[in-house]
Amino acid sequence: MTASGSADLVIVANRLPVDRVVEPDGTSSWRRSPGGLVSALEPVMRVHDGAWIGWTGGTSEESDDLAPFVEDGMQLVPVPLSAREVEEFYEGFSNATLWPLYHDVVAKPLFKREWWESYKRVNQRFAERAAEVAAPGAMVWVHDYQLQLVPQLLRELRPDLRIGFFLHIPFPPAELFSQLPWRRAVLEGLLGADIVGFHLPGGAQNFVRLVRQRVGHKTHRDLVTLPDGRQVRAAAYPISIDAADFEDLARSPDVTRRAEAIRAALGNPKRVLLGVDRLDYTKGIYPRLRAYAELVADGTFDVEDTVFVQVATPSRERVDEYRKMRDEIDMLVGRVNGDLGQIGRPAISYLHSSYPREEMAALYRAADIMVVTPYRDGMNLVCKEYVACRYDNDGALVLSEFAGAAHELSQAWLVNPYDINGMKAAIVEAANADPKELTRRMKAMRKTVAEHDVDRWATGFLDELDAVRPSGRRRVRR
Ligand code: G6P
Repeated sequence: MTASGSADLVIVANRLPVDRVVEPDGTSSWRRSPGGLVSALEPVMRVHDGAWIGWTGGTSEESDDLAPFVEDGMQLVPVPLSAREVEEFYEGFSNATLWPLYHDVVAKPLFKREWWESYKRVNQRFAERAAEVAAPGAMVWVHDYQLQLVPQLLRELRPDLRIGFFLHIPFPPAELFSQLPWRRAVLEGLLGADIVGFHLPGGAQNFVRLVRQRVGHKTHRDLVTLPDGRQVRAAAYPISIDAADFEDLARSPDVTRRAEAIRAALGNPKRVLLGVDRLDYTKGIYPRLRAYAELVADGTFDVEDTVFVQVATPSRERVDEYRKMRDEIDMLVGRVNGDLGQIGRPAISYLHSSYPREEMAALYRAADIMVVTPYRDGMNLVCKEYVACRYDNDGALVLSEFAGAAHELSQAWLVNPYDINGMKAAIVEAANADPKELTRRMKAMRKTVAEHDVDRWATGFLDELDAVRPSGRRRVRR
């Protein structure tokens, strides 16, 4: 067993919860990353004397200041990645193999043996770091597809720990997962955890079925029993946002003013449609913009009084499929605006950039219709953020049935992003809905989002992990 550290709760994620900001004079500092996960876990980390292990986003060749540090009261433990590991582990195996494979093979996954070697090596490094910092009997919570081998590797080093794993993306059906040449090793990696969490019950069921088929362990409902008697539970824990915080932000005078200014800058149109995504081929940005463009072309919408604002946050720009799709979107937006726009009135206002939360809240306030149309998405938090910001119970949400969030937000206009005509019909319906109908739907969705916030998600998962005894036999059975 490796010598233990002092942290009672260890979060292991590919990225640290801070981003490096480099000033013009070359000095750099850390800024807390935006996003609900960090704000949800921060208070729990403080209570527990927690540590967070993750990659800084750079390469070990660029910087060597990789000693643990404290930021915002959190103990942060950087894991170095070399330039080659960034290419093979992060861009390669994580984002060109697992990402497309787990998202319904929307793009073709690439299977490269050297990427797998790198994935194993980097997972081992994360596991070693976790083993060093965790106190005896501590809880370790491992996150997402980049680190699926960590639970098992860590258990080998530290059998005293209680290990949880949560997958933030979909877990695919056996028919797709089985393409992976290293499928058994990945399943065994995950089985190192006491609890394996997914957004949806379907993901948990896919996992249990695969474990039975490919690893041969006994399973009963959501429980897997290993040959040594240890039990692993696979269950759904749908993630959410800090809804109250988003609503407060949306109600603030600054955001209210900014929302008005955004509408004014767009020419005070009758209708603002909004899309907000990481620029990713899973998000269905292309078919959504086409659906809208067709509605303008056929005269249903007029650019004089309707505009589509699409925010696309730059992402994974060195991965081929991402470059390709950026070109496709650039071309589509150029063509649509060239064909359908007028002076001062583009049909699509396209922003390839990322914005702070305040600006996002203002955009959500400014938008009459939020259009979220992924081909496949683990959860999708953008639609929940929109709902949280609509405190007047107005605004319409058009949502893909292939987003995890569709299971909770069933009062949205649910669409199939592969069906352009269906999407057009839903957008028109949402645009013409009477206020009562909008209120009815939005009220119901707001209730769901307010009641199931990210704090409930994090404490729910950690309470169950806490109830696991070191032997792997549960104190509390649901
Ligand atoms: C998704 C993944 C996260 C990832 C994020 C941003 O939400 O589930 O694990 O951190 O995308 O992607 P990036 O590759 O920039 O970390």
